[in-house]
Amino acid sequence: MKIFAVFGNPIKHSKSPIIHQLFAKQTGVLQNYKKICVPINGFYKIFFSFFKNGGIGANITIPFKKKAYKLCDILTERAKYSGVINTVKIINSKTILGDNTDGIGLLKDLQNLKFINPKSNILLIGAGGAAQGIIYPLIKFGCNITIINRTYENTKKIIKFFKNVKKINSFKLEDLFLFHNKFKYHLIINATSSSMKGNIPNIPSSIINPDIFCYDLFYNFNKTPFLKWCLIHGAKKISDGIGMLIEQAAYSFYLWHGIMPNTKIIIKKYKKYI
Ligand code: ATR
Repeated sequence: MKIFAVFGNPIKHSKSPIIHQLFAKQTGVLQNYKKICVPINGFYKIFFSFFKNGGIGANITIPFKKKAYKLCDILTERAKYSGVINTVKIINSKTILGDNTDGIGLLKDLQNLKFINPKSNILLIGAGGAAQGIIYPLIKFGCNITIINRTYENTKKIIKFFKNVKKINSFKLEDLFLFHNKFKYHLIINATSSSMKGNIPNIPSSIINPDIFCYDLFYNFNKTPFLKWCLIHGAKKISDGIGMLIEQAAYSFYLWHGIMPNTKIIIKKYKKYI
């Protein structure tokens, strides 16, 4: 049986094994997919020994996405622009291919939800790995992205990464507060880790209106703090990142097996598990 895994720390709460089990059942693929909790300083050793011992592919999660990026022999185009990867595949038993399926998974979910079109102006909040990982597919789709972040220095690092790309710009947070009436955003994406600690990123509430789509990459049993805040300020169209979680997993599955699961059915089924 082909062996796959997700590497992370912590990893106990990862939903990836359940999702991949549902994909395998749906498509008739035989695979063994396990969770591996990697010691913070032990990624290199565990990563290579997994593949030496027959592993075919893996998902990589926090905090190893950047480390894994550096270990790949080749990268997909979208992975190159991400600076981090979430999926690896061994090719011809020796070459490590790295991919990042987060952005394409997000785009698919936004399309399913009818939250996006190629002309959408997107306000992206956050400038960490999660934010950088989703930018390329959204720009390729045609959207314009404005990045806003608590620490402007981190925004500048992302802008530098996309230096030849026209559809991306940024402001200092204080400028967004001063000039937000001048800009019209169709979609706002929270890619900060603030929801994990029950916090909300600091942005002007007057950006929120009944027509703007509000999306949080984070998900929870309840609505995330950011989405609750959006509703309080008049949003009508909100979504958390559960659909993205399933869609990014589907693109990993496709990279490994060449079969795309029917994610609509899985999203419905999966909601029963959380
Ligand atoms: P990840 O790789 O998951 O994106 P990260 O690199 O630690 O994690 O980045 C976390 C992001 O969330 C950053 O943009 C961070 O802002 P800073 O660059 O200013 O640190 C943002 N973030 C975390 N907590 C936040 C909060 N309470 N309010 C606003 N932004 C927050």
